[in-house]
Amino acid sequence: MTYNLNDADKMDNENKNLVRARQSLIEELDAINVYEERIQASDDEALKHVLIHNRDEEKEHAAMLVEYLRQNDAEFNRRFDEHD
Ligand SMILES: [Fe+2]
Repeated sequence: MTYNLNDADKMDNENKNLVRARQSLIEELDAINVYEERIQASDDEALKHVLIHNRDEEKEHAAMLVEYLRQNDAEFNRRFDEHD
């Protein structure tokens, strides 16, 4: 699915902020994947140590965005309690 920037112009500010949070979450998750790939590929233990630290900080960033979405998107929050 492709995000349509033209339609975004018609969104209200509340939803624009939710889009910003969701897009940021996508980017944090992607960063975790990139770091993980580099951790697995590197044979330098000092570099791995730095990359592991950075990966785990991205996990914190992702968690903060999920928390924001839970606090600001009632349906998203409800699904945490009621999913199958
Ligand atoms: Fe981050």
